[in-house]
This record gives sequence, structure tokens and C-alpha cells, in this order.
Amino acid sequence: MNETAKPLTLHALRTMQARGEHIAVLTAYDATFARAADAAGVDGLLVGDSLGMVLQGHASTLPVTLAEMVYHTRCVHLGRWRAWLIADLPFGSYHEGPEQTLRSSVALMQAGAQMVKLEGGGWTVPVVRFLVERGVPVCAHLGLTPQSVHALGGWRVQGRDDAGAALLRQQARELAEAGAAMLVLELVPAALAAAVQADNPGLMTIGIGAGAGTAGQVLVLHDALGLGGKPPRFVRNFMAEGGSIADALGRYVAAVKDGSFPDPALHAC
Ligand code: KIV
Repeated sequence: MNETAKPLTLHALRTMQARGEHIAVLTAYDATFARAADAAGVDGLLVGDSLGMVLQGHASTLPVTLAEMVYHTRCVHLGRWRAWLIADLPFGSYHEGPEQTLRSSVALMQAGAQMVKLEGGGWTVPVVRFLVERGVPVCAHLGLTPQSVHALGGWRVQGRDDAGAALLRQQARELAEAGAAMLVLELVPAALAAAVQADNPGLMTIGIGAGAGTAGQVLVLHDALGLGGKPPRFVRNFMAEGGSIADALGRYVAAVKDGSFPDPALHAC
């Protein structure tokens, strides 16, 4: 743990964005990898409900419970020092509305989260406003939202046609107006992700399979380390380039910072 580094705040991340420095985010689920990623200079750690797939072996994120997210958030919190800590609100832990979302967010923040992430636009706008007014920083998530995988018809690129792109831009604007500080854009065309960032300069967009025009990038840790099955097209195996996990994580951070990741040739669309 590099306790000489100053822990990052939302303000520090905004300053990073304002000076054009890309924000490097990785998922983490336990204290050991959180410590390693933090030491490698990762700016944000996301306790993603992707843990349902990469840790638990499910085919989707839907089975993950709030209790499991609280457990892993506490583990990651105990391992990190500098990185900003975001935790996913899992499926069913916010869908009933603002009060339920606040209760779920309190559980995650008491476990160490500094920001909560929820998926979707439209109906989530009053929920985001309710949290932000009560001092809970929010990261929204648009594009391919894995908790809606069945409704979306699979793991497909979103916002390809004009109507889909216009809807996503409108939802992003509404979420920004409601006070979301960060927005994950997953599996959307690079031009659309760049347009969302340009529309909302006060929002930190974090892309995954969304090209290079976002303020930052996020990858699932296991994908970045080349673990698991066939990775999505946009993923780079940093372990193949580095001799150790520490080296691979350092290469991920360096590649996000110098703009060599994501590679436009590997982008989905
Ligand atoms: O759960 C997760 O890991 C995520 C990322 C893919 C952004 O939401």
C-alpha cells in the first residue's frame, strides 16, 4: 500500500479530467488485487457486479445480491489506499425506487464505497437526484447495461442507429442534470461516446468498449489479465505483455494515460 500518495477525491478526479489526464479504472473484488491495482496507480476501483460472472461463475450479473456486494466492497476498501472506490448496486437493490436505493447505497458506503453505480436511464433520473441531494456520489451506466441483458437481447453494441444514439444522449444529459458525477458507457460506438462527453463537460465518462473519446477507461480485472474465456474484441491482455501481475497492471495504467489503450483497431464498431 502506497500510503505516501494522497487518496483521490471526486475533486481530484475532476481536476485530472480538466487537465486532460485520462482516468484509469479497473474492477476489483478483494483486498489483495485492490492493493496491487492501487500500487500500480489505478485511479478508480470498481467493485463490479461482474463478480457474479468472474468470481461466482454465473452466466450474468443478475444473481448477485446486495450482501455479496457489501462483502466484496469491504474487502476492496481494506486493500486500497489512493484509488477512488465505486461499488455497483446489484440487480433488484434499487429498482423499487429512491428509498430502497438509498438504503442499499448506505450499506455499500458503510462498507467503504465512495460512490455507487446504477444502470439505466429515464426511470433512474429521480433516483439519482434523490441520492445526490443526500450526499451520495453517483456513477450512472448506459449503453450495454448487463443487468438488462435479457431485455436487450444479449451482449450487443448499443446506440448504433440514430434513434438509439439520440435516446442515449438524452438519457446522459438527464443523468448529468440530476447530478451524476460519472457515467460508464459500455459497448457503444466511439463517436457516440465522444459526443456524450462533449454534450456534458461536467460529467466524467468512463468507457468500456466505447472508444478513446471518454474521460477514462474501465476494464474487468480478469479480462485485463487474460483470465477466463474469450474476451470481448476491445480487451487487451496486459498479462501477455508483462511478466507479472504488478507489471501488467502498471502497463494498463500507462496505456490508459498515454492513450495507447483503447486501440481503435480493436474497437467493436
Ligand atoms: O460490473 C462491472 O464490472 C461493470 C463494468 C463492466 C463497467 O459494470
